Amino acid sequence: QFLRMGPNQETRKPHAVCLPFPAQGHINPMMKLALLLHHYKNFHITFINTEYNHNRLLKSAAVQDSPDFQFKTIPDGLPPAEDGGGTQDIPSLCLSTRKNCLEPLTEVINKLNHHTSNSPPVSCLIVDSIMTFGLRAAEEIGVPGVLLRTASACSCMCYKHVIHLVEKGLVPLKDEGCLTNGYLDTPINWVPGMIPLRLKDFPNFIRTTDPNNPLLNFLITEVAQSSKASAIIINTFDALEHNVLNALSSISPPIFTVGPLHLFANQITQNTSKRVRSNLWKEDPECLKWLDSKQPNSVIYVNFGSIAVLSSRQLTEFAWGIAQSKKNFLWVVRPDLVQGENAALGPDYWEETGDRGLVVGWCPQEEVLSHPAVGGFLTHCGWNSINESLASGVPMLCWPFFADQHVNCRYACEEWGVGMEINSDVKRDEVGFLVRELLDGGRGKMMKKRAMEWKEKAGKAISSDGSSYLNLDRLVNEVLIG
Ligand code: UDX
Repeated sequence: QFLRMGPNQETRKPHAVCLPFPAQGHINPMMKLALLLHHYKNFHITFINTEYNHNRLLKSAAVQDSPDFQFKTIPDGLPPAEDGGGTQDIPSLCLSTRKNCLEPLTEVINKLNHHTSNSPPVSCLIVDSIMTFGLRAAEEIGVPGVLLRTASACSCMCYKHVIHLVEKGLVPLKDEGCLTNGYLDTPINWVPGMIPLRLKDFPNFIRTTDPNNPLLNFLITEVAQSSKASAIIINTFDALEHNVLNALSSISPPIFTVGPLHLFANQITQNTSKRVRSNLWKEDPECLKWLDSKQPNSVIYVNFGSIAVLSSRQLTEFAWGIAQSKKNFLWVVRPDLVQGENAALGPDYWEETGDRGLVVGWCPQEEVLSHPAVGGFLTHCGWNSINESLASGVPMLCWPFFADQHVNCRYACEEWGVGMEINSDVKRDEVGFLVRELLDGGRGKMMKKRAMEWKEKAGKAISSDGSSYLNLDRLVNEVLIG
């Protein structure tokens, strides 16, 4: 490809094309990786968003092209939603991107490689691990195709073993009764490198009676395709998932752990204008001022990420449970968080909670979690949220919602000692009790101590002789430009 260099093409700068899956929890870590490669390893970057998401980013986060960090867009292949906008429905996006995005991706790459292009020739593709079609585009132009796994290594291992659940006849479920009769508690203690699990710790896509369930089959085939990658980057750090990483490396292409990516990238881009925000919603900065007015470790921060949707009953139970705790709370209620009526947070509620609470639509989560007033995090256990919480030394209350979040919760509670699980059938009394226990109780204190230890280990991983730091060097030298 270097021989095809046109007159305008810079000679030697490596050029990474980054393609995130079009959802917030996937765009953020891909952006951090791109920033690291750009500022620290001098890569030219082309960052490809779907058209729908890129328009949202332009509105909320002021992303801008620069000569050597440019954005391109491709359609997500879905028809416009009823309101004329796009969708963040994950199953639809999984199936649509696989079916429709290879062609537009190849077109973008061909343009970048055309002799009239101003960018250096593409030297590697980094694509999300559930967009393995991108590996074919890399193969076509003869460059390394690398997957970014934005979730934990333990969830990666679970995904890999879904096929074995099928082979053992545990999945698909025999009938709907299996969802409620205790079947999901079936012990699974044969996954290499993993702590004892239950069937319900596996991604919830397995909770189907249909052997042809599109998402179940999508997942199984994506896992199979991932073996064709030149390497797999995981947003975790060795000390956190040592055993499972060991087991995973014997059944995967070469693995490079370079996390926590947000911490690593922020270290490189600290105090500069180099930080690029990648929020699809507009942040409300007021909440940081509000936190300034609160005592250290006195606030429970509540956020269910970008995808989870609560019923109005669940919202009501959380709301009144938090009120019962009598603790300060900062709660992010996305405009689309609640299905149906959102009556729980009305005047009665504010009469009861007064200035103990603040509700905003979207917040700068990394800053919130590192604010001294925040003593605990009530989370859906999205992997970015867990990484960001650990890196700030904040213990958690866990209410997993879907996909990898179940096993993340299991590990946070059973292995890392930083979480307490809230029953999936959420009740206000339990919420109230656990919030108090987390912020004031003996178990809360022990979890805070463990969380601070993980914070220190995360910091070590990205320091100049740390595992993530060294792995990034190896990734660049052995795979991306090797
Ligand atoms: C999804 C999955 O749920 C998650 O399990 C998977 O690992 C990645 O994709 P999401 O549900 O959005 O992501 O959760 P999470 O992984 O926590 O990512 C949310 C991101 O948005 C985090 O980086 C968080 O800092 C950011 N965020 C969220 C904000 O900046 N402000 C907010 O108010 C909420």
